[in-house]
Amino acid sequence: MLASIKEVAKQFIEKTKNKEIQVISHHDTDGITSAAIMSKALSRLNKNFSLRIVKQLEEEVFTKLPQNKVILFLDLASNSFNYIKNLNTEVFILDHHEITSEIPSNVTIVNPHLFQEAEEISGAGLSYLFAKELDSQNTDLAYLAVIGMVGDTLEKNIGKIYTSIIKDSKVSVKKGILMYPATRPVNKVLEYNSEIYIPGVTGSSTGVTDFLRDLDIKPVNGQYKTLIELDKEEISKLLTAITLQRSDSGSPEDLIGNIYLVNFFNKLEDVRQISAMINACSRSGESGTAIAFCLQNKKAKTKADLIYTKHKQSIVKALENLPKLKKIEKKNYIIIHAEDKIKDTIIGTIASILSNSREYEDGKAIIAMAYNDTKIKVSARVVGKNGKNIRDVLSSVIEEVGGEVGGHQFAAGCLVEKNKEEQFINTLQKTLEIELVKL
Ligand code: C5P
Ligand code: C5P
Ligand code: ZN
Repeated sequence: MLASIKEVAKQFIEKTKNKEIQVISHHDTDGITSAAIMSKALSRLNKNFSLRIVKQLEEEVFTKLPQNKVILFLDLASNSFNYIKNLNTEVFILDHHEITSEIPSNVTIVNPHLFQEAEEISGAGLSYLFAKELDSQNTDLAYLAVIGMVGDTLEKNIGKIYTSIIKDSKVSVKKGILMYPATRPVNKVLEYNSEIYIPGVTGSSTGVTDFLRDLDIKPVNGQYKTLIELDKEEISKLLTAITLQRSDSGSPEDLIGNIYLVNFFNKLEDVRQISAMINACSRSGESGTAIAFCLQNKKAKTKADLIYTKHKQSIVKALENLPKLKKIEKKNYIIIHAEDKIKDTIIGTIASILSNSREYEDGKAIIAMAYNDTKIKVSARVVGKNGKNIRDVLSSVIEEVGGEVGGHQFAAGCLVEKNKEEQFINTLQKTLEIELVKL
């Protein structure tokens, strides 16, 4: 794959000698970090380019494409060849979504799925490797590739390529408890985190104080240690206590994982936190702020802090609304229809939170739906990333009902016309039930 990136970078330089470039990227953390890397790399080459961030590749995006520019898609487009093949332009794609049809002749693509046994590299990882081929100075952008990797939750099994990207990046990796931000005092993290729910503790400041006192973890000069400052014994006590307080059968080791720490705006930050902030900005319609924030622009940081606070509030509100939503629940799947009670821009985040919440069994499909203007946005996740291929399920439904679909084996999505709502739900249920029989 690395050789192919080198070759594609060479072709890209060749094809863009006298031509402007239109970069199109995805609106989540991985797409935004991809766009930030490419913006910096193309500026350094003095290339003329414009940038557009999209929620997904709908037909409308293609009808508005300029005819005379070279198009570069980042973190998307592998499932949009039906539109791309009709374009009269040169198209480059750096993407890791599953490829669903034959590659058209106007497309030059790098996608890990095209290489046997290639490790999965996110959009930002591919953009970084590409940028590094354009100019070795771009190694200073490696931290963005790590943020994109964490944004797409690929940090659990990293291979050779990511190991070398992390080395380039000066990001440090530490084993720790999987709550974030690990750089904030432990009492605050226990109270506000949405990764590990502890009954009586999460959401309650007095609950947190009691809990920590029982463990003999005390504040020093009024301030608790941060998660990364806790010593081994403290971590072990904390883990045992968390496991005891929770009703699920998971072991303490499940709560431990790699924590990535980066020097960002001259402060040591938890990469998960940065990723969440980028996501918040972009999904709130501020993708420009998100990109400037990635490139450590101070004004963007102030704005991003504000947006993040608001975004967290809207997620809390959406989670509070959950019990009121229409649901169809069977043993192996749950369909949650938020209608207009949750915004389409955060429905994916809600689906991800639910799939990580341990509320549901491994292998269960979570399908969350919400209205946008004229369509229904559908976000699907498979709990524990194990079991059925949810992208295939959605694809076969969309084939029948019509719409746009794409994604990965355990995280996929689609977009359906509102007037197809009933047909979509019926077909989805039928397909999910057939899938279950097959398993
Ligand atoms: O690939 P994309 O950035 O569009 O993915 C967005 C969502 O898909 C995120 O919630 C991420 O956690 C999830 N994802 C996943 N497995 C992958 C890639 C992405 O669960 N291999
Ligand atoms: O939007 P959401 O986070 O649910 O998307 C999950 C995955 O499915 C992402 O990788 C996203 O890019 C992909 N997707 C897609 N086409 C759609 C909707 C989602 O490729 N219409
Ligand atoms: Zn991605």
